[in-house]
Amino acid sequence: MPHIDPRDRLIVALDLPSVSAAESMVARLGDAVSFYKIGMELTYGGGLGLARELAQAGKKIFLDLKLHDIPNTVARATEQVADLGATFLTIHAYPQTMRAARGALGGSTLQLLAVTVMTSYDDADLKEAGYAFGVKDLVARRARQAQEAGVHGLILSAEEAADMRALVGPDMLLVTPGIRMADGVVGDQKRVMTPGRAIAAGANHLVVGRPVTQAPDPVAAARAIVAEIAGAA
Ligand code: C5P
Repeated sequence: MPHIDPRDRLIVALDLPSVSAAESMVARLGDAVSFYKIGMELTYGGGLGLARELAQAGKKIFLDLKLHDIPNTVARATEQVADLGATFLTIHAYPQTMRAARGALGGSTLQLLAVTVMTSYDDADLKEAGYAFGVKDLVARRARQAQEAGVHGLILSAEEAADMRALVGPDMLLVTPGIRMADGVVGDQKRVMTPGRAIAAGANHLVVGRPVTQAPDPVAAARAIVAEIAGAA
């Protein structure tokens, strides 16, 4: 596995209600955090401008937009995200969508992360949506298809990281949310792992939101996670 600076392995999810709240958090975190995830909520609330500004200021940006559309639209949207200077972009793991996004990267450094099956889905949800596969089989099928399409990595719960690492081998990036400190508040996450265990399970990057952004001291929280990552790597 390639060496990544421990600080770059922590991705803080800017799940905040407004661009100004997000800007304040970024200013507060300063050099303690180098990588931010901006999702649909903040993007639709004006967060794309923030993403561009942060990228220009030297931060790494993960745009969690979960693209899925006809190939031409996916390709054009991917080009726009690459121009913006983002490092990671999520797409749904449909073979057509993945091939279109991959083909649109050109010489850019943007890396694609596929969402195999959303963790809110169980077997009954997939059946209701018309699928012939259960979650486990569909996740494995789409992970292999992502690899074949040249997608760089997968986003998946930390609990799935060890099995997925065994399935896809050492080269694909595994990016995992659902991270909590050993003594932390779990909140609405059902299956969580500590940073150290997630890294040991094969995760390359950890997506962490509230344990940093809602901490009494966000800088100390981020530093503690980076230290735990460094200790487990
Ligand atoms: O605050 P918390 O650390 O739970 O935030 C986790 C982040 O990862 C959120 O942005 C959430 O939407 C995202 N995420 C997740 N579980 C998934 C996929 C994404 O928690 N299966």
